Amino acid sequence: RGRPRRPQGEGERQGEQPPDQGEQRPDQREQRPDQRERGRGRGPRPNRRNQQGDRRQDRPPPTPEEREARRVAREKRLAARAASVPAITYPDLPVSAVKDDIAAAIRDHQVVIIAGETGSGKTTQIPKVCLELGRGIAGQIGHTQPRRIAARSVAERLAEELDVDLGKQVGYQVRFTDESTRDTLVKVMTDGILLNELQRDRDLRRYDTIIIDEAHERSLNIDFVLGYLKQLLPRRPDLKVIVTSATIDPERFAAHFTDRDGKPAPIIEVSGRTYPVEIRYRPLVRVEPAKTPGKPDVETEIDQVTGICEAVEELWTEGGAAERAREGSGEDILVFLSGEREIRDAADALEGMNLPGTEILPLFGRLSAAEQHRVFSRHSGRRVVLATNVAETSLTVPGIRYVVDAGTARISRYSQRTKVQRLPIEPISRASANQRSGRCGRVSDGIAIRLYSEADHDARPEFTDPEILRTNLASVILQMTALGLGDIARFPFVEAPDSRMVTDGLRLLHELHAIDPEEKDPRRRLTDVGRRIARLPVDPRLARMMLAAVDEGALREVMTIVAALSIQDVRERPLEKQAQADQQHARFKDEKSDFVTLLNLWKYLRKQQKELSGSAFRRMCKNEYLYYLRIREWQDLVGQLTTTMRELDLEPNSRPATSDQVHRALLTGLLSQIGLYDRDKREYLGARGARFAIQPGSALRRSSPEWVMSAELVETTRLWARTNAETDPAWIEQAGAHLLKRSYSEPHWSRKRAGAVATERVTLYGVPLVTDRQVGYGSID
Ligand code: CDP
Ligand code: MG
Repeated sequence: RGRPRRPQGEGERQGEQPPDQGEQRPDQREQRPDQRERGRGRGPRPNRRNQQGDRRQDRPPPTPEEREARRVAREKRLAARAASVPAITYPDLPVSAVKDDIAAAIRDHQVVIIAGETGSGKTTQIPKVCLELGRGIAGQIGHTQPRRIAARSVAERLAEELDVDLGKQVGYQVRFTDESTRDTLVKVMTDGILLNELQRDRDLRRYDTIIIDEAHERSLNIDFVLGYLKQLLPRRPDLKVIVTSATIDPERFAAHFTDRDGKPAPIIEVSGRTYPVEIRYRPLVRVEPAKTPGKPDVETEIDQVTGICEAVEELWTEGGAAERAREGSGEDILVFLSGEREIRDAADALEGMNLPGTEILPLFGRLSAAEQHRVFSRHSGRRVVLATNVAETSLTVPGIRYVVDAGTARISRYSQRTKVQRLPIEPISRASANQRSGRCGRVSDGIAIRLYSEADHDARPEFTDPEILRTNLASVILQMTALGLGDIARFPFVEAPDSRMVTDGLRLLHELHAIDPEEKDPRRRLTDVGRRIARLPVDPRLARMMLAAVDEGALREVMTIVAALSIQDVRERPLEKQAQADQQHARFKDEKSDFVTLLNLWKYLRKQQKELSGSAFRRMCKNEYLYYLRIREWQDLVGQLTTTMRELDLEPNSRPATSDQVHRALLTGLLSQIGLYDRDKREYLGARGARFAIQPGSALRRSSPEWVMSAELVETTRLWARTNAETDPAWIEQAGAHLLKRSYSEPHWSRKRAGAVATERVTLYGVPLVTDRQVGYGSID
C-alpha cells in the first residue's frame, strides 16, 4: 500500500484510488466538529496516520465516565495554561499607547486590521494585548511571519519581553526547527508552516487567535492564508484574526474581511513617531553636460559597489557623525541590496576601505542564529549593516541613522510565454523605497541616499505586484485541491489570479499526473500521485520525481538532487575568481549529466565532512569555492525530505541506483522541459515551439546530445538550459503517455505483415518523438 504505483493508463488510475476514498469519505464529512478535532488524520490520505484515524473511528464511543475524565483533564490543562501566562508590561511604543483600543476592537470583532509604521510595536506588542485579553488559553495564539529569520527573531524578542524561556510559553516553528510545545501560548511561525498544518488541522482548532503579520508583503502564502481564513471564520466563530501591515493599503484587507452585514473589518491606524528623513539621490549613471556646445552630454556609469562605497564615505564624514558614534549614539548605516552575492561583494569592498572602528555586518535569511544575533546586539563603535529586503519592514535593526538604498530586489516572475519562473533583480516600488528610507527616521532625523535618480524614482510603480499575479500557480492549486477547496475560480482571494495563470497551473498538474482533468467532481480530481505531491515540501515537479524514484529504486539519489535543485547553487563563482572556481568544481563534473555532477559533489562533501573537523570543513569549503551555509541547507533539506517520505511509508533505496534509474525518475518531472537538437540552428527545439541553448557551464554544452531534459530553463537574453542531462525518446514516450499526440499517414497494404499498415508520428508538446514508425492499421483507434 505504501508504494505508489506508476501512473499509466486510465484503467490503472482507477485502481489507484486509495481504498479509503470511496465509501468512507461521506461519513467522515459528517463527523461532528468535536469528533473531528480529535481525529487528526482526516481526509483520504494514503498514510499511516490516516489508517490510525480509521481505526479510531472503529472504537466504541466513550462511556460517560470516560467523557467526564476527559473533561476534567481538559479543564486542568486550561487552568495550567492560564496560570502560565507571565506578567505583562508594555514598553513605550506607539502601539502601547492604543492598546486599549486594540483590545476593544478584538473583543468586538472577529477580524481586526492594524496598520502602522515599522518599529511602532505591532509585531512585538499585539501578542501581549491578546494574552491580556485571555486569548491563547483555549487555543494557541498563532503568529505568522513571511520569513524564517524574522520568525525566530520575533519569538526571541517576545520571550525576552515576557521574561520567559524561549520554547515554553513563547515558541517558534520554522522549516527544520520546532521550538514549541503543546503548552506554548504564543507560537511564531512562517506562513508556510501554518499552511502545512492545514493539511492535518483544517479548521485550525489548535489556535484561538491568529495574527497574520506583515500582510502587506502579499506573498502567495499570505494571500492564500487570508482567503482560507475568510472561508473558515463562519465555521470558527470563536476564532479571532488580526491582520497587521505596514501603512500600505490596509483598506484592501478590511474590504476582504467583511462581516455578515457586509461591513468591512475595522482598521486601527497606529500613528508612528517618525522624524524627518532627508533623501539624497546619487544615481550610478552620471550625466555631465558636454564641454563643447552642440556635442552630446557625457554619461559615465559607476558600478553598484563603488556607488555604495561612495555613499558610505559621504555619510561617514556627515556633520561629526564619527565623533558622535564614539560617544555611543546610534550612527549606524543600513545598506539595502538585492541578494547575498551583492551583499558579499559590497562587504568585501567596504572592508577594503579600512574605516576605523567600524564593523561590517551582513544580514540575510540564510545566516545562522549566532550570526544574526550580532546584528541585533548592543555594540560600541560604528556599524554598516548590509541587508536584503528582510530589513525593509520585518526586522528592526537598532541604532540606524543612515540608509543607503541600491533600489533593487529579487522579485520572482513567471513568464507566460516560456512557462518559466524567473528570479530577476528589479527596481523596487515607491512604497518599498519609502519603507527603506523610513528605517533611519525612527529615533531621530536621518539621511537616506538612493543610488538612482529622482526621475527614476518617480517613474516606478507605486506598489510591487502581489506574488499571486506573477507566479506559477500549480502548487497552490494542488494544495487547494488536496484541501477539498474546490474551484480556484471561486476561492475568495484578496485579489484573484489571472485565469491564464490558473490554466497553466492546471496544465502542469496534469503533466505531472497529479490531477485527472477528465474528472468532473473537483473532490475526486486529485490522483494518488497528486495527493502525495501535495504533502512534499518542494516544487511539484521535484516532488513528482521523488515519487517516480520510489518505483525506480532511486529515491536516495533523486532526493539528493531534488534538494540541490530546491536551493541556490552551493558552488560559488565570484566575479574575479571564476576561472579558479570553475577549476575546483570541474572535479565533480560528469560528462553526460549535470545531475550526476550534483551527486558527485554530495559524495565528496559527505566524505570530507567525516574526515575533517567542523572548522577545517568550513575552511575547505571556502578554499574550494563552496558555500558552507547552502551546503548546510542542502543537508537539512535532504533530512527533511527523508522524514517526510518516511511519513508516507516510502523508504530510500539501500542499494545504489543506476544512472538510468535516476534519470528516468527525473524525467517524470521534466516532460515539458525536454529538447530535440536542431543541427542547423545549433539549438534545441523544446515544448510548444520554445527554443533554447545549453548554458555554458553545463556538461552537455560541448557534446550537444540529440535529446536532453533540463531542470532549469532560465530566461535572460534568450532561453538557457542550466541543469541538464541526456535523455531517451523511448523513456519520454513512456513517461509522457498521457500527453502524447499521434497522427497517421500513408495507409497501405503490407505484404510482409499481411495487413494494412500506416506511418505513425508521435509528438509531445509539438516535439516529434517518433516520425516514421510502421504500425498495423487495425490497431489504430
Ligand atoms: O512590528 P513593528 O515594525 O511595528 O515593530 P516591532 O517589531 O514590534 O518593534 C517595536 C520596537 O521594538 C522597535 O522600535 C525596536 O526598537 C524594538 N525591538 C528591538 O529592539 N529588538 C527586537 N528584536 C525587536 C524589536
Ligand atoms: Mg513588524
